[in-house]
Amino acid sequence: MYVHGKDKYWPDKMNINQIRGDFPILRDGRIYFDNAATTLTPRQVLDAMNEYYEEFNANVHRGLHKFSIIASERYEESRKNVANFINADSDEIAFFSNTSKAINFIALSLDWKKGDKIVTTEIEHHSNLLPWLRLKRKFGINVEIVKADENGCLNIEDFENAIDKKTRLVALTHISNVTGTVSQVRDVGKISGDNNALCLVDGAQSVPHIKINIKELNCDFMAFSAHKMLGPTGIGAAYIKKDISEELDPACVGGGTVDYVSLDDYTLLEPPQRFEAGTPPIAEAIGFSRAVRYLGDIGMEKIEKYEKELTKYAINLLEDIDGLDIYGTCKPGVRRIGIIPFNIRGINADDLASILDSHGIAVRSGHHCAIPLMEVLGIKETVRASFYLYNTKEEIEQMISVFGKI
Ligand SMILES: Cc1ncc(COP(=O)(O)O)c(C=O)c1O
Repeated sequence: MYVHGKDKYWPDKMNINQIRGDFPILRDGRIYFDNAATTLTPRQVLDAMNEYYEEFNANVHRGLHKFSIIASERYEESRKNVANFINADSDEIAFFSNTSKAINFIALSLDWKKGDKIVTTEIEHHSNLLPWLRLKRKFGINVEIVKADENGCLNIEDFENAIDKKTRLVALTHISNVTGTVSQVRDVGKISGDNNALCLVDGAQSVPHIKINIKELNCDFMAFSAHKMLGPTGIGAAYIKKDISEELDPACVGGGTVDYVSLDDYTLLEPPQRFEAGTPPIAEAIGFSRAVRYLGDIGMEKIEKYEKELTKYAINLLEDIDGLDIYGTCKPGVRRIGIIPFNIRGINADDLASILDSHGIAVRSGHHCAIPLMEVLGIKETVRASFYLYNTKEEIEQMISVFGKI
């Protein structure tokens, strides 16, 4: 089982060759720099999921037969491992199919009244903006947007000004999926708490890349996705703080969520089961659990340090290229992860991504589901290179050499 803070299996330096050997998809030498969208899957995760289908394929919490008992135990053990990974308790983790679904579920499970206020920001991924704008449309909720500076950075004084006693919820991203910069969520969480407001953190880009101790973040909810942290698609999780979970009226109910049902009414099970209506993604939960064990065995501090080294190396090389603009802040001292948005003047971002693809290099191009942030940065789209623990400096050099040819 993964124990929070016990990253003990790997020596000081990460063994990148050994790590790369765990990813069958890397065998043909393609370069994968689209990790902010979805990461690759190691053999260990694939094996764990296969084991479910080959050895104990059954539904969970429903059967008294051997397979169902094993599947239920493994599913709950997975919840425990994912919880430990962020230092939460097991009953504070509910599985959803991804970050977007988790945020929507929370938005629709809280009890809103006209005039309630939500504070969010200009740098959010659409998945942490639309659910709040929808509440504005549906219930007349007042949504106040904290502005960012020209680099897409947020200022804590702006939160102090925006959050007041009318604020019910503050929703912000921990790390921008466009610029890779880390926001001061702990301070924002404190201001929220001081004003009796709930704080929801979009952890889609932080949980995979930096060590999270949820107890230090002063937040009530955090959502994240397995497919961005070496796990399978189709599963993500929400941290729902114990004191809050009773307040939620689950947006989705049905089989697996109830203790008793009559034709008039029903009694829900305790959290988190009451949040997981229907058959959950069982193999995916087991794969998610194996992914956090994989990351934990290497050590999240080591992973962040390695990515930082790669990012610094890439930025130094990119900055030397005439006509190439990097967005967001590259200032030393700003904590960031391995996400670099850039454009080459005179070349459309999609065309540049296609050129890189023809050289065997996968990057993302477009608005990255963050149109308001694009407007802050003064652009419509960018190419985005995003790194993870299996990427290397040599791969970055290969990308740079393509720009030389252009
Ligand atoms: C910051 C951020 N939030 C939310 C999401 C949505 O994640 P998912 O597509 O897994 O729901 C993403 C995906 O890129 C993201 O980067």
